[in-house]
Amino acid sequence: MTTRSENQKSGPADKVVHVQIENGHALVTIDNPPVNALAVTVRRGLMEALAKVNDAKCETAALICAGRTFVAGGDISEFAGPPPLPHLPDVLSAIEASDTPFIAVMHGTVLGGGLELALACAYRIADKATRFGLPEVNLGLIPGAGGTQRLPRLIGLERAARMASIGKPVTAKDFAGWGGLDQIFEGDRMAAIAAFRANLPARPDMTSARAVEDADLTALTAEVKKAAKGSNAPLIALETTALAAKLPFAEGAAIERQTHLDLRSSSQSRALRRLFFAGRSVTRPARLKSVDTAPVNHVAIVGGGLMGAGIAASCLAAGHRVTMIERDEPSAEAGHGRVEAIIAKDLASGRINQDKADARRAGFTASAGYAGAFDADIAIEAVFEDADVKRAVFGELSAVMRQDAPIATNTSYLDPNMISEGMPGPDRFLGLHFFSPANIMKLVEVVGTSATSDRTMATAFAFARGLGKIPVETGVCDGFIGNRILSAYRRQADYMVADGASPYEVDAAMRELGMPLGPYELQDRTGLQISWANRKRQRASGTWPGRYVEIADQLCELGRLGRGSPTNRGWYDHSDGPGKPDPEVEAIVQTYRAEHGAKHESFSRDEIVLRVMAAIVNEAHLILEEGIAFAPEDIDVVWTEGYGFPKHLGGLMFWAEETGMAKLRAAFAAMQAQSPGSWKAAKPFA
Ligand code: NAI
Repeated sequence: MTTRSENQKSGPADKVVHVQIENGHALVTIDNPPVNALAVTVRRGLMEALAKVNDAKCETAALICAGRTFVAGGDISEFAGPPPLPHLPDVLSAIEASDTPFIAVMHGTVLGGGLELALACAYRIADKATRFGLPEVNLGLIPGAGGTQRLPRLIGLERAARMASIGKPVTAKDFAGWGGLDQIFEGDRMAAIAAFRANLPARPDMTSARAVEDADLTALTAEVKKAAKGSNAPLIALETTALAAKLPFAEGAAIERQTHLDLRSSSQSRALRRLFFAGRSVTRPARLKSVDTAPVNHVAIVGGGLMGAGIAASCLAAGHRVTMIERDEPSAEAGHGRVEAIIAKDLASGRINQDKADARRAGFTASAGYAGAFDADIAIEAVFEDADVKRAVFGELSAVMRQDAPIATNTSYLDPNMISEGMPGPDRFLGLHFFSPANIMKLVEVVGTSATSDRTMATAFAFARGLGKIPVETGVCDGFIGNRILSAYRRQADYMVADGASPYEVDAAMRELGMPLGPYELQDRTGLQISWANRKRQRASGTWPGRYVEIADQLCELGRLGRGSPTNRGWYDHSDGPGKPDPEVEAIVQTYRAEHGAKHESFSRDEIVLRVMAAIVNEAHLILEEGIAFAPEDIDVVWTEGYGFPKHLGGLMFWAEETGMAKLRAAFAAMQAQSPGSWKAAKPFA
C-alpha cells in the first residue's frame, strides 16, 4: 500500500465532514457543532467521504466526531418538511456495504441517528463513559434509518425493543456486554484506534444480513403500555422492532421508515417537538442574552421546611455551598435533618455515590443566625406564606448580604413587589418559585418586580439552569402563570361538583385526558391548606372572581387537609393505603347541593374535560393579554413541567389549537351560563 497523506477539500460538505488518509487508513471526522446532528450537510459529507475512502481503497476508515459527543441524533429542525436528499437510510446502507470497513469510534452520547450510524459500521468501539440510546419516542417518533431492525440483530430482540420503546440510554459497559461494541477504551482515542486496527478482528457479516431470534415480548409490552401514559410512539417502536424477527431486513426497514415519516406529521410528535424547542428558548430569554451574570457559589436559604430543604438539596447537588437559616436551633436541626434525608435517599438508591454524598454534606450548614449569609451570592426565602414574616426575612438578608446579590422569595401567591417594598437596593429582589418536591421538579417561575434589574434576572436564570431546572419568566399576578391557571382549573371543577358531578368523576375524566392526577387527587397530594389560606386572602381582599363554592373549606375545617395530614383524609380517605373515594365527602357534597338549590346536572366525561380545559385555556389567554406570560410556549412549558399536563398533548395552548377553538368556545359559553358573572372572557372567547 502506498503511503499517502492528504486532506482533501471539495465543496461545502467538507465543512462538516473531513477525510484524512494516512498509510492506507482513513480518518473520517464529523464536525457539526454542537452535537454533530445528522443534518443534510453531514449526510452529503458522509457520502463524499465514503467515495473517497473507497476510491483510495483504504484498509479501514475510523469514523469519529469532533467536540463533546459522537452524533447525538438527527436534525430535528428538518422534521417539519420532506427530508432532503440523501436520505439517512441510504447513506447507512452505503456505509454498511462499503468495501472499506468503517469503525465507529464513539464518545459522549450516541443517540438516535447517531446510534443508527454506528450500527451500520462494520466495527464499534467507544470510550468507557459513552452512552447509547434510541430516544426518538421522547419526540413521538421511532427510529427511521434501520435502528429498530439492525439493533436486534446485534444485541437481541428483547433488549433492542426495550431501548427503542423506553428511550432511555444505556452505558457502554451494558451495551458492550450485550454484543453492541467490539471494544471499550479509556483515554487517548487515536491510540485506541491504532491498537484496534493493529489487531483488527475478521470483518463480521453486515448487521442487516443477520438473523434475529424471536422472543416473548408480552411482559415488555405491558410495561411499555403502562409507562407510555397515552403516548403512541413507545408501543409503535416496540411493534416495529419486533418485525426484525419476522421479516428480512429490507422489508422491516421499509416499514420502519414509512412509520417514522408518518409519525413526523402526527399531532403527538409535533407537540413533543414544539415543547422540545420551547424548553430551550423559554429558559434563555432573548432580552437577557447579552446581560452579564454574577457567578453563584454560595446560596443562603431561609426556611428549612418542605420547600427550603428541597431547594437546598438541589443547590448542593449542583455543587453549591448552602447556608440554611431557620427561626431557632431546633427548627435548624429539623431542616438539617430534611436535607440529610434527601441526600441519604439519593445515596441509598444509587443515584449518587459516597463521595458525592460526602461532598454535599460538607457543603451544607444549618443554623438560626444570619451571620453565615454574609458572603452568599444569592438568597432564597422559603418561610411561611405570610407577607410580614417574609418581609422581615428580606430585611435581615439585605442587612448582611452584598448589595448586588439577588434575594428571592419562593412565595406561591404573594406579590414580590410588596414583600420587598421600601427596601434599599430594590433591583436585587425577585421571586423564584420552585415546585414541590423542589429537589426533583424542574420548573422554576422567575418573577421580576417592577424594579428587578436585568442583571438580577439574568443571574437568576443562569443559577436556575445551573441547578438543572427549567426557568420560565412570569409577570406578577395572583399565582403567577402556573397557580393562577390552577385556580381557574379548580374553580371550574368545583362548580361542576357543586352542580352535580362527583369529585371522583372529575378526577377520572382528567386522568383519561392524560393528567397523572385529577384536581382533587392533586389537592390531597399537595395539601389543602395553602390554597385554603389563599382563598381566604382573596375573599378578604375582594379579589375572588365570581361564584364561591365552600366545599373545600368545609373539608379543611374538618381537618381533612389531605394525604399525610393528621386525619390522613382529604377528598379521599387515605387512612388505609391508597386513597379511596369517601362516602363522608359525598355526603358533604350532597348537603351542600341541597342547601344551595343545585340543578343536579349530569356531566359526561367529555363535557367535564371540555369545560375544565375551556376554563384554563381562557385563563392562559388572559395571562398572555395581560403580559404575565410572554408567549404561548411559556404557558405550555409551565403546565407540562410543573403540573403534569401530558407532554404528548403539547401543553394547554397546543391542545387548544389541535382541539379547535370552536369546541372550546361552546364549552366556555356553557360555563358562563352555569356560573353567571364568574368568568371574564379572554379575546378568543369573547
Ligand atoms: P413549611 O411550613 O414546610 O416550611 C416553612 C419553614 O420556614 C419552617 O421550617 C419554619 O420553621 C421556617 N420559618 C418560618 N418562619 C421563619 C423565619 N422567620 N425565619 C426562618 N425560618 C422560618 O412550608 P413550605 O411548604 O416549605 O413553604 C414555604 C414557602 O414556599 C411558602 O411561601 C409556600 O407558599 C412556598 N411554596 C410551597 C410549595 C408547596 O408545595 N408546599 C410549592 C411552592 C412554593
